[in-house]
Amino acid sequence: MIEVSAPGKLYIAGEYAVVETGHPAVIVAVDQFVTVTVETARKVGSIQSAQYSDMPVRWTRRNGELVLDIRENPFHYILSAIRLTERYAQEKNILLSFYDLKVTSELDSSNGRKYGLGSSGAVAVATVRALDQFYALNLTQLEIFKIAALANLAVQDNGSCGDIAASCYGGWIAFSTFDHQWLKKQQSIHTISELLAIDWPGLSIEPLQTPEDLRLLIGWTGSPASTSDLVDQVHRSREEKRTAYQKFLEESTICVNEMIKGFKENNVALIQQMIRKNRQLLRELSTITGVLIETPALNKLCNLAEKYEGAAKSSGAGGGDCGIVIVDQKSGILPLMSAWEYAEITPLPLHVYHQQRKGPL
Ligand code: PMV
Ligand code: MG
Repeated sequence: MIEVSAPGKLYIAGEYAVVETGHPAVIVAVDQFVTVTVETARKVGSIQSAQYSDMPVRWTRRNGELVLDIRENPFHYILSAIRLTERYAQEKNILLSFYDLKVTSELDSSNGRKYGLGSSGAVAVATVRALDQFYALNLTQLEIFKIAALANLAVQDNGSCGDIAASCYGGWIAFSTFDHQWLKKQQSIHTISELLAIDWPGLSIEPLQTPEDLRLLIGWTGSPASTSDLVDQVHRSREEKRTAYQKFLEESTICVNEMIKGFKENNVALIQQMIRKNRQLLRELSTITGVLIETPALNKLCNLAEKYEGAAKSSGAGGGDCGIVIVDQKSGILPLMSAWEYAEITPLPLHVYHQQRKGPL
């Protein structure tokens, strides 16, 4: 039996701007996993996933018609990852066969509520990795990223794929997304193998070393948020508020690049300063678009962290889910943990996950 895992992620900085080509984000992989097992079957295969089986399929109405929103349901990411990996295997003249594929996830809380650690990215990466082993494809880390990214874009086309990069590479990364329009065009003229072989303009995934004194704390608000809905909402006012949106993109890029410099120079204070700056920029984005990113619970989480010398902000799309705090290792964290618990913020006892690198980048 084949068993592989892929970690969840948390955005540290650069959210929303990173959806646009060439604007960086810092993302980290955390030690909660999606695990996929594959076992050879005969004549008929199966796909099973306990966590996702009782998940409702959301729908909305467009011009009076009922339209399914499959973007929040990890099952579709599994299917899409299978399809693309098998298409690649076929291109390599590998004989396709039957298997039973099982998915288990630690990225959802026990009562089915999501922590916002990124099931869709991790599930796609774990599925591609499992089939990579099953069909002995020998894919590199970057090729796994590209197949998982293509699989996710087929289900949800408004994300940056930063979650996939974090899940593939592990640790802390600086990430900028590829030109999505360019990729769409290439998809209609190239095979998967060809798409894996060419450089994707704009794509950059750079592992970051962390200063020894840096400590990451994570607080959970307990309320789930829909990333794809929030990104849709921000994009709706993108045209109308063009100048302000452009300014946000530019300032976010300067801020995240400064933060990356902080990582390279072992400068925790600079990283903290840029966390605070990025929080401010996201607040401005909220004002520009009318989309609530830092909810009252996230606001409480951040303000308490700041009271105890932490630099804090919402993580990812916001609207709920988690907030992150960067503290200096030397400052005690227990007072903040108590303050959070009193304020009904759940500290998540997660660690950064570093994986052993298989093959070349
Ligand atoms: O809420 P999360 O952790 O899924 O993060 C979303 C981050 C965005 O930049 C808003 C979207 C994206 O795909 O990068
Ligand atoms: Mg989120």
